[in-house]
Amino acid sequence: MEKASLTSTENKRVSYLRSELNKHNYKYYILNDPDISDFEYDSMMQELIAFEKQNPLNVTSDSPTLRVGISPVDNKLGNYIRSIPMLSLSNAFNESDIIEFDQRVKKLTGDMSDVLYTVEPKLDGAAVEIIYENGILTLSATRGDGIEGEIITPNVRTIKTVPLKLSKNRDFSFPRLEVRGEVIIDKSGFEKLNQFRLSENLPLFANPRNAAAGSLRQLDSRKTAKRPLIMFAYGISNPFELGFFSHWDVLCALKKFGFNVNSHIKHKIPVKEVLKLCKEFSEKRFLLDYEIDGMVIKVDSIKNQKKLGATSRSPRWANAYKFKAVQATTKILDIEVSVGRTGTLTPVAILEPVDIGGVVVGRATLHNEDEIAKKDIMINDTVFVQRAGEVIPEIVKVVLSKRNGEEKLFKLPKLCPVCGSLVVRHKGESAVRCVNAVCKAQVKERIKHFVSKGGFDIDGFGDKLVDQLVTKGIINNFADIFELKSDQLQELDRMGKKSAENLIKAIEARKNISFYRFLFAFGIRYVGENTAKLLSDFFRSLDRLIEADSKTIENIDGIGHIAAGSIVDFFKNRENIEIIDRLIKHGITIKVLAEKRSTEFEGKIFVITGKFENLTRADVKKMIENKGGKTSSSVSKKTDYLIAGESAGSKLDKAEKLGIKIVDQSFIKQF
Ligand code: IVH
Repeated sequence: MEKASLTSTENKRVSYLRSELNKHNYKYYILNDPDISDFEYDSMMQELIAFEKQNPLNVTSDSPTLRVGISPVDNKLGNYIRSIPMLSLSNAFNESDIIEFDQRVKKLTGDMSDVLYTVEPKLDGAAVEIIYENGILTLSATRGDGIEGEIITPNVRTIKTVPLKLSKNRDFSFPRLEVRGEVIIDKSGFEKLNQFRLSENLPLFANPRNAAAGSLRQLDSRKTAKRPLIMFAYGISNPFELGFFSHWDVLCALKKFGFNVNSHIKHKIPVKEVLKLCKEFSEKRFLLDYEIDGMVIKVDSIKNQKKLGATSRSPRWANAYKFKAVQATTKILDIEVSVGRTGTLTPVAILEPVDIGGVVVGRATLHNEDEIAKKDIMINDTVFVQRAGEVIPEIVKVVLSKRNGEEKLFKLPKLCPVCGSLVVRHKGESAVRCVNAVCKAQVKERIKHFVSKGGFDIDGFGDKLVDQLVTKGIINNFADIFELKSDQLQELDRMGKKSAENLIKAIEARKNISFYRFLFAFGIRYVGENTAKLLSDFFRSLDRLIEADSKTIENIDGIGHIAAGSIVDFFKNRENIEIIDRLIKHGITIKVLAEKRSTEFEGKIFVITGKFENLTRADVKKMIENKGGKTSSSVSKKTDYLIAGESAGSKLDKAEKLGIKIVDQSFIKQF
């Protein structure tokens, strides 16, 4: 039942929870320095969610529960018309453009002494404005045409680096603050996002900027919440009116309010240093984990910013130094097909070598057939190739005007180019696969993965060696590695007696292996290092994992339905089990790491009631005990948590009466 007003105890508790959760979110995402466990955070969040479910009218705009997003029905977007426009920036493409900008500034301000600038990386994402009224986030909008933007408030609330409420700041407190910044997705987040989309057969994002902009304009903010968005604040709409002295002071205030401010920003520097920095960053950019396309140079003094003013398009006090394009045009000489570890046929464009931002590029991945069709790519096409800071270059688009009739359509072969087996494309998948498990290309890639750093980590077992061993048929599977003899190795290219013996020693030295590395080494589809660790922590023995059904695996937090199916299929395969048996026979010892007896539930007493989806009560009990918690069959004052499933009865009533924390199935999934 919705209550009209809350008791003062309820009020206190709820505002305590909100402020604690907001504080810990800041510590985790901005300072990278959490000081409570995930469990403590989750249980506070659960308590707040449960409360707000019962009292929807009491959900405040700064409630951390909004971080998970809301349904599209409640997501009333529209347009926002701003009174202080979000302008664009004029560009500088070389040193003399920057020097001219500096001279213009000097002339217009009438101050011929050294002007001091702030220099910031120009983040390549989507611009946003976020409005705070009395310290609370009340509205956010895209830049749009500068004046009119789209309202994206529920989406922006899901971004962990955006404060829902400003931290108290001794020096400043404003009834209204309009913060401006860039929302980006970093390179690693982008890779993961596209990898996930590839596995789900969803269209790929062309670059992190598109992914960020698209995520912000999602109608369903629960989807936005799942995108790895990061916001960097770089200014406010009216620093002069709010009494700021310098742009640097604005950035410091933003930081104090709880925003993410870029750590590479340099302040109060003369034009000579600005030039140096721009040059330095045009190389350093590739080392950053997010894409930048230039540097923004801003006059630091707010008084001078005011004096300089703006044209209708851009302020006269700022300038964007744009890095040299890292796109180049070249020709696709051919399209090769490589066969990966899981048999996926990946088309790779062989390019006429071209220098892109100082690196000669000769190959670019084309991902899969659908991507080729979408971009209408043909052999002999002239294409734009881009190195956007990531390692693998990408084909942006075909220069259609350069077509001359010599272009050839590319089709993935019907047979595996390595072993000649038929290839298949499963319904709903974009990948075409060679399903011959003993295809030499797959075997090579699997073995490379097996001996790699994250797996058995065998010293000196390089790619060239694997290629030779598999081509010559000396090894065909993982177990064969442990049967290698020194004289077999000595027959290979560039392998003397000494190095052969060293390799045998290196193989011997790796016979003791931790359970998760052992699992990772097998290269089971969807089992990366993280999933391998989760499996190892949960099952703690290979035998138990081999016997597990997919429901049990799926119930481990962090492992989904598809991965669970793939794991079960792997262990159902008799050949895989035979190889495992041979490995054990060769003396491979699997070490299960000392139980990470989590203290998260230490000393806590749980009562379980009701029915759970896909879980028996015994499963729930085991999960609690694994984390050091205890269970009891009846609710009393000593109970810390009631885990309530479907149709919970009298225990729920009693727990409510005693004021015991009540959590549901979604909570169970979290541990
Ligand atoms: S200042 C009036 N600072 O670049 C000043 N902009 O054309 C305008 N951008 O989409 C913005 N990083 O979102 C500023 N450190 C930074 C920036 C930055 C990226 C974007 C901005 C806009 C474009 C300006």
